[in-house]
Amino acid sequence: MDAAVAGNMKIFHTISGQRDVLREERRSGKKIGFVPTMGNLHEGHLQLVGLGKDSCDVVVASIFVNPLQFGLNEDWEKYPRTFDDDVKKLASAGCDYLFYPDEKEIYPNGMADQTRVVVPTMTDILCGASRPGHFEGVTTVVSKLLHIVQPDEAIFGIKDFQQLAVIRRMVEDLCIPVDIIGAPIARDYDGLALSSRNCYLTEEERSGVKILYETLCWCREEIVNGRRDFSHLEALTTEKIEKGGFRIDYVSIRNAKSLEPAAHDDMDITVLGAMYAMGARLIDNVSLNLNEV
Ligand code: PAJ
Repeated sequence: MDAAVAGNMKIFHTISGQRDVLREERRSGKKIGFVPTMGNLHEGHLQLVGLGKDSCDVVVASIFVNPLQFGLNEDWEKYPRTFDDDVKKLASAGCDYLFYPDEKEIYPNGMADQTRVVVPTMTDILCGASRPGHFEGVTTVVSKLLHIVQPDEAIFGIKDFQQLAVIRRMVEDLCIPVDIIGAPIARDYDGLALSSRNCYLTEEERSGVKILYETLCWCREEIVNGRRDFSHLEALTTEKIEKGGFRIDYVSIRNAKSLEPAAHDDMDITVLGAMYAMGARLIDNVSLNLNEV
């Protein structure tokens, strides 16, 4: 066993060490929940651990800043790494195991020669359009992590709406025996969705970026009130955000399940947005079910 211990939580760096201990847990009938992360943990991540604890006997979190999902000009190098702090947070949230591999452990044959998992079509749109290769990196590492941990449940945040949809599709298409649970978006005092990348925002930008959530909520309200001119509504929402001083990547009104552009008679709708602040690209989304309003 190669485990270090923090409170009641055990930390593993190797696949074999993590697997050995989980094999024993499984053998004694324990239900295993899994929360994959890239660290720099905030309340949103800890809520996922909490959900895992509610429905499982044992919760495993992972921290791995996965280079395969970062573009060449993206922030892999400067991505905040706060391991000691993360360990304390996970231990006090009641997490049982932390899997903390290095790059060699996950990509022993190098990244270029790594077998890839690709979910086609739905990864070409929205965030996939401006981050080519990103979702391939996500699905490849998440499928590896699911094979390592073999959890009964894996919990992902609705904050990354497209990521969650893509992972659900991958699990369905590859018959991976795991329940994927979507967890609500944890927000800051002014509505800004918590994100490890919020630390890149300048002080000046921080007060303005709530406009993304506010404007998506405005858009949702318009739909609830009966508007169905979705293209026009997307343009109006975009304009509001641009007036706030931010560059838009996309604002899009979509069918919540298929991620196709929403049809006029769709009942389950999600409004997704991505915008650029100087230091960070921010994403958010709000959903509505017209059967329930
Ligand atoms: P990371 O950005 O660290 O997020 C880990 C998990 O936390 C994801 O499921 C994400 O959706 C969730 N999360 C992040 N912010 C949240 C918030 N404000 N409220 C609720 N949940 C939130 O997403 C990744 O890492 C990676 O792509 C990963 C899946 C680990 C694969 O490398």
